[in-house]
Amino acid sequence: MAYTSSKQAAKLKQSRQGMWSSRWLFVLAAAGSAVGLGNIWKFPYIAGENGGGAFVVVYLGCVLLVGIPIMIAEVMLGRAGRGSPVHALRNLIESAKASSFWRVIGWLGIGAGFLILSYYSVIAGWALFYIWQMGSGVLVAVTPDQAGKLFSNFLSDPFQLVFWHTLFMALVVWIVSKGVVKGLENAVRICMPLLFLLLVVLLVYSAQSGGFEQAFNFMFSFNWSEMHLDGFLVALGQAFFTLSLAMGAIMAYGAYVSEETPIISTITTVAIIDTSVAIASGLAIFPIVFANGLDPSSGPGLMFVTLPLAFGQMPGGMVFGALFFLLVSFAAITSAISLLEPLLAYLVEEYNAKRKRVAVSMGVLCWTVGLGSVLSFNVWAEFYIVGDKTFFDFVDYVTQNIMLPLGGVLIALFAAFVVPKEVVAEQLGLRGGFVSIIWNLLIKLIAPLGVLAVFCYTIYTTLYLPMTA
Ligand code: TRP
Repeated sequence: MAYTSSKQAAKLKQSRQGMWSSRWLFVLAAAGSAVGLGNIWKFPYIAGENGGGAFVVVYLGCVLLVGIPIMIAEVMLGRAGRGSPVHALRNLIESAKASSFWRVIGWLGIGAGFLILSYYSVIAGWALFYIWQMGSGVLVAVTPDQAGKLFSNFLSDPFQLVFWHTLFMALVVWIVSKGVVKGLENAVRICMPLLFLLLVVLLVYSAQSGGFEQAFNFMFSFNWSEMHLDGFLVALGQAFFTLSLAMGAIMAYGAYVSEETPIISTITTVAIIDTSVAIASGLAIFPIVFANGLDPSSGPGLMFVTLPLAFGQMPGGMVFGALFFLLVSFAAITSAISLLEPLLAYLVEEYNAKRKRVAVSMGVLCWTVGLGSVLSFNVWAEFYIVGDKTFFDFVDYVTQNIMLPLGGVLIALFAAFVVPKEVVAEQLGLRGGFVSIIWNLLIKLIAPLGVLAVFCYTIYTTLYLPMTA
């Protein structure tokens, strides 16, 4: 039973936007949201920059102790409140007679999702561009210099970037406008199995490249001396980003979950899939990097310069390179739809608006904000919002380092201290005992304190260090 009065329940039912057809479709959709550029583009390069193995361990700790509990809390809030994040919170606040301050979680989430999508679409557009570049053979046997030039020339051309950004956003809008079953489910039904298949194909291909052992050692040997305090911050930020946490995406998906679905085991499965894909992506990418004598810590360019270069020099690289970027694009699409869903669900429920119309208008708005990120790589490259941050850097920084951790702490505290104990017990199927103790320990103490500590450190480094530097 959802935690709402019968009148509310009737109203919600009327505005309800759909339900997942099965528990497994929810797993696929949540995994689709989680697995994205964060796993394939970001994870390998930040692991590379932060010393490999030691970083991977800290990251796994963050997923286990902070990520999974907050993800469980989100699904629980979405399902118990039955509505878009804003409505779900409103319903829960009313039932618990809590302060309306907590509604900030919903708004913060919608704002963060919108902002993240605006630049996510720009980067995903690069992946679309590279499917076509790899496939057309332009990169066959290029020198490192030429591969770097191709990428920088591409970035310096705003029209090219806008073209691919537009194409990606249009795909996303087209999918979400079709609704939960026809849009979201069909997208994950097609994209996710293909993604797993492509990943396996690439792993096999990489394993034969000759750099596998070195890659394995790089990712799993613990070199603590290379792990700095900053690494903890990056690891936690990555755990949030990769699990799609703290902005209501998973809460919005939670609203479409049936009462019978066991939340804890389902979400643990999603987190395992997400982590496996991140590790597998590292194991697919680093062997190619090492086999070609390239630098594993080459930053964001790892995927767009290093890999195309490596693929261009390998037998069959044209086909496998194109497949690789196809995989990245699939992963990005199923994530992007989850960034838009909370906002759409809110507008549809609040104004009884037509889903298609809302999807198109919000897509256009988000696309427009994305132009700022497009220009950050060329015309506005020297235009800094604060410090040395371009528009793109700024939006990325504010969402990932401020809005997501803040949302995360609030979600944990709300689930831990505002939602009545009985509701939590019912939602999560807790019957006292060991699981309840662990749950309470994680959600009341470890998750909020962990995020808070890292958050304070971010604020400290942002405000204090630039002055002393
Ligand atoms: N998790 C996705 C990735 O790893 C990105 C993403 C989708 C996301 N929805 C989100 C990130 C919500 C933060 C919040 O690429």
